[in-house]
Amino acid sequence: MKILATDGLHEHGINILKTAGFEVLTTTVAQNQLENFINTNAIDIIIVRSATKITKELIDACPTIKLIGRAGIGMDNIAVTYAIDKGIKVVNTPTASANSVAELVFAHLFGMVRFLHQSNREMPLEGDSRFKDLKKQFSNGIELRGKTIGIIGFGNIGQEVAKIALGLGMKVVACCTSIKTSTITLPFYNGTSVNFDIETQALETVLKEADFITLHVPKQDSYLIGQHQIELMKKGVGVVNTARGGVIDEVALINAIESEHVKYAALDVFENEPKPEIQILMNPEISLTPHIGGSTIESQERIGVELAQKIISLLK
Ligand code: 3PG
Repeated sequence: MKILATDGLHEHGINILKTAGFEVLTTTVAQNQLENFINTNAIDIIIVRSATKITKELIDACPTIKLIGRAGIGMDNIAVTYAIDKGIKVVNTPTASANSVAELVFAHLFGMVRFLHQSNREMPLEGDSRFKDLKKQFSNGIELRGKTIGIIGFGNIGQEVAKIALGLGMKVVACCTSIKTSTITLPFYNGTSVNFDIETQALETVLKEADFITLHVPKQDSYLIGQHQIELMKKGVGVVNTARGGVIDEVALINAIESEHVKYAALDVFENEPKPEIQILMNPEISLTPHIGGSTIESQERIGVELAQKIISLLK
């Protein structure tokens, strides 16, 4: 069987698939060339990340496709129900990148509370001429320990965020539409572990109590966090979105930064990917990354291996 991994796949995943007898093509095919490529090469399995869209039209136009693999978590770029109804298998890797996303949340949080995103912009320009001024400007950061983190969406990633937060000495408040309680196990390097039982709360409680809010929900039909929800948050709150663009209203966020209701904001995902709004990109108050939450070496390796094993168990 022939596989096209158009958005790439870790070499360990590719090797597992090849050893199992699959032919794996890793050509990056432009969205508008996909139908032609799949049909010309009689592709049986297509593997994508978030960059490539598998629409109903593409599914209809490519009858050789038997399985769609999502090398990652979010499947909002795939017409999942439509594919399944047509007898096409759809698989993703819901846990493999959770820790990588959680660590990125803290990379942003630690960076923001010590102004690293701003300091890194200004030190190359003025670090030699205005060192003392910059020292003053970027002093008076704060610590995360002892603060409350609000986790919206308490699935695999939300729970990984909780582990790191608890390890740091933060209080965790979480909300979730599906999970009422969860035991979070913090594993330590020496094989010991500590359990924390977390009961999820109402969204409003999390919004009101948290010093920092991080979002871990799938793509939404409308904003989950808009002006009203931001108004419920503490003044001086920090907000991090590594979930999906459109979960938070970017205009409301910018307004809240300008009015200083939101003090720290970090975005890894954007309403308009891959061309985020310039007002977001140029805002010096926002800590920015280009949708790299799941893009660590370890995470991509776990994703590649897990997806390969799932494909083999489904089609061999
Ligand atoms: C995911 O849903 O797995 C993450 O958003 C990562 O997406 P990516 O595979 O396009 O980096």
